[in-house]
Amino acid sequence: MDQKIKNTKQKIRQDLVLIKNIQDLDTLSTKYLGRKGEVNKLFQSLSPKEKATYGQKLNQLKNEIEKEVKKTKSLLLNVKPDKKIDITIPGIKPKEGHLHLLTQAIEEVEDIFRSLGFIRRRYPEVESDWYYAEGLNIPKDHPARDDQETFYVNKSVVLTAHTSNGQLREMERVKIPPIKMINIGKTYRRQASNTHSSMFHQFEGLMIDKDINITNLIGVSNYFVRSYFGPDREIRLRPHHFQFTEPSFEVDINCSLCKGTGKKNGKTCLVCKAGWLELGGAGMVHPKVLKNGGIDPNKYSGFAFGWGIERIVMMKHNITNNLRDLYLSDLRFLKQF
Ligand code: PHE
Repeated sequence: MDQKIKNTKQKIRQDLVLIKNIQDLDTLSTKYLGRKGEVNKLFQSLSPKEKATYGQKLNQLKNEIEKEVKKTKSLLLNVKPDKKIDITIPGIKPKEGHLHLLTQAIEEVEDIFRSLGFIRRRYPEVESDWYYAEGLNIPKDHPARDDQETFYVNKSVVLTAHTSNGQLREMERVKIPPIKMINIGKTYRRQASNTHSSMFHQFEGLMIDKDINITNLIGVSNYFVRSYFGPDREIRLRPHHFQFTEPSFEVDINCSLCKGTGKKNGKTCLVCKAGWLELGGAGMVHPKVLKNGGIDPNKYSGFAFGWGIERIVMMKHNITNNLRDLYLSDLRFLKQF
């Protein structure tokens, strides 16, 4: 009898594995626990003598089977039917990001100047004093250094406060003009306000060849502002002073809001105040700088300019409140562009 009980246990274990649904389980339950089921058959086969010892064991077997059936039943009831997948429903498109506003502007500036034959260059942001200042005709102890707000790493190494250090480096690289460079990089100044940050980007243009004069500077500048801001924009030059250009200018752009009049609806224009917005510095490369770059100033001449990426971005998108919004990675701000 012991062996028979053992065999029944084994059989039921095998049967349980095959159960797929409640009907299967009902069949199994009747097969073992039903009136004519396996367990009852065993009961009936007991001789009166065996009943004393095995009656209890068979009751135990019955209880165990009942337990298993119950357990399996609750498992079956908890399994949700497979969700049907409709493969014809369009999927969920992942959200697409876009380049940061400043990166977009850098690429756009690069493209515009490339279409004029200027090559994009990158030069060190941690630079020796020679390329950054002295070679650009700013001697040590010259008062012009006071305006620069330079971060010094040590006495002869700086974080560049402008991208003009690229001028001499490009002259040394090319050696014999023509040179048409656009150097876009990060610049650093000891400053912090709503319109000035201690790190920002500049793009430095340099063109050197035979017979380059101010009209070339004006032509290239106008081409740039019309490509970047729109066809109705133009520049004007205002005399200024830089050590590394002679003559030197500040380049202004006419304001799009008041069309250069400085007035909007009879009131002072809120964007520009005087009809013009300052773009940045420019000028004809100083003969001393050409010489320092190994280029004969009697044979060649050139112009250079250095303008701010953040500034043109703010001008184009009318961002007037805070320059630092450009660095905060706030998606509510960035998603607008
Ligand atoms: N380096 C100057 C600045 O940062 C700009 C400039 C560049 C002026 C080239 C003249 C020529 O303000």
